[in-house]
Amino acid sequence: MDFRFDIISDYLPVLLKGTLLTIIISLVSIFFGSVLGLGVALGKMSARKYINLPMSCYINFFRGTPLLVQILIVHFGVVPFFYGTTNAILAAFVALSLNSAAYMAEIYRAGIQSIDKGQTEAAKSLGMTHYQTMKLIILPQAIKRMIPPIGNEFIVLIKDSSLVTVIAAPELMYWSKMMAAQYQRIWEPYLMAALIYFILTYSMSKLLAYVERKWKTS
Ligand code: ARG
Repeated sequence: MDFRFDIISDYLPVLLKGTLLTIIISLVSIFFGSVLGLGVALGKMSARKYINLPMSCYINFFRGTPLLVQILIVHFGVVPFFYGTTNAILAAFVALSLNSAAYMAEIYRAGIQSIDKGQTEAAKSLGMTHYQTMKLIILPQAIKRMIPPIGNEFIVLIKDSSLVTVIAAPELMYWSKMMAAQYQRIWEPYLMAALIYFILTYSMSKLLAYVERKWKTS
C-alpha cells in the first residue's frame, strides 16, 4: 500500500476549513445543548404534570430516535418551516443542540438527585430558602459529579457532528468524503479525518480533566 502524502498536503487547507466548521458546530451545539438541557432537566423535575410530561416526551423522543433521522427531519422539515429555506449549517446547530439537550438534561437531573435528600432537609431546617439550598449546598456537590458525564457528552457530540455530512454541511467529514471521491483514495482522506477528530476529542478530554481537577480542589 502506498500512502500519498502529496495529496494530503494538497487537500490539507480544505480539511482544515472543514475542521473549523466542525469546531464551530460542536461548540455552538455544546453551548445551546447545555443551556437548553438545564431547562429541560428543571422542567422534568417539576412537580407539575403539565410541565414534566412534555419534558419527558422531549427526552424520550430525542434519545429514542436516531440522530441521523433527527438531522434529516430538522434539515428538510423544521428549518424550511421556520426559516423559509433549507440551510445545512443552521440545521446542524439545531439538530445537534436539541439532541444534546436531551442527554444533558438527564445528566443534570441525575447529578442533582444523587445528592442525599437529608442535606436538603438539613438546609431547610437551618432556615435556608430553596434557592439558597440549591446554590450553596446541592449544586456545588452535584456539579462535581456531573463533570465526567458532561465531558463524555461533549466528546460524543464532536464525533456525532460528522453525521451532518448527510445534509452536506461542509464540515470535516464532508471534505474528507470529497477528497476520497476526487482522488479515488481510501486511506489518506479517512485516516486524516480520524486523526483530526481524535485531536479534537483528545484536547476536549484533557480540558475536562483540567476542569475536574480545579473543581475537586475548590
Ligand atoms: N449516534 C446516536 C444516535 O444515532 C447519538 C448518540 C448520542 N449519544 C449521546 N450520549 N449523546 O442517536
